[in-house]
Amino acid sequence: MNYLRLGVNIDHVATLRNARGGAYPDPLRAALLAEAAGADGITAHLREDRRHIRDTDITALMNGLTRPLNFEMAATAEMQAIALRHRPHAVCIVPERREERTTEGGLDVAGDIARLADFIAPLREAGCRVSMFIGHDPRQIEASAEIGAAVVELHTGAYCDFHAEGHFSAREAELDGLRQGAVLADSLGLEVHAGHGLNFETVGPVAAIPEVRELNIGHFLIGESVFIGLGPAIAEMRRRMDAARA
Ligand code: PXP
Repeated sequence: MNYLRLGVNIDHVATLRNARGGAYPDPLRAALLAEAAGADGITAHLREDRRHIRDTDITALMNGLTRPLNFEMAATAEMQAIALRHRPHAVCIVPERREERTTEGGLDVAGDIARLADFIAPLREAGCRVSMFIGHDPRQIEASAEIGAAVVELHTGAYCDFHAEGHFSAREAELDGLRQGAVLADSLGLEVHAGHGLNFETVGPVAAIPEVRELNIGHFLIGESVFIGLGPAIAEMRRRMDAARA
């Protein structure tokens, strides 16, 4: 089967740093370690409230990384200007509500087609691969193709939540939706990524979906690094992805 890339999200290294307000631990240092451990790319989400990644982190990542940066951002004018200044390899448009703890649901592309088409046009012209973070609803996938996105990232949060709660039939139904969504997106010429909430237990079935070309994983890897170290956590995730793909 084709190669499945692993993007490592380093947001929560910044969360830890910000807990003390200083410069340690440094997200760029974690990102370089992640690259050395087998990450194919680094993902960072500059939230409007700057609760983890800061503007200076994005500059440091753009200057210091050897692998592509996947810049996650909300569809706001401020974020668009920042992305156009840095021109990262990829821009992933995510929904953002200030009160949420993390990115809780997918973007409503179908309900905002005209605005999002206009919003991503300059990013596409600047050479960024634009990705829409959506659920597996066919309407959202078709709308993402319609506005000219290159990539869809399918939200795996519900699948992971059902697994954690022991709702296995709901988990399987969600996995089926992800599989069908991946087939549809691929047939429309979209590159398929997936992510949110993945861990050692849940990664295999998603990694086994042939149309999925990249996984973006953050919180679990940073958490697991407390116990086994970031390099070994990434290496084990990579091993499980490869085993599922074989
Ligand atoms: N993909 C997207 C688009 C996200 O917004 C996030 C969370 O920032 C992730 C992947 C990674 O999710 P997690 O940190 O739960 O692995």
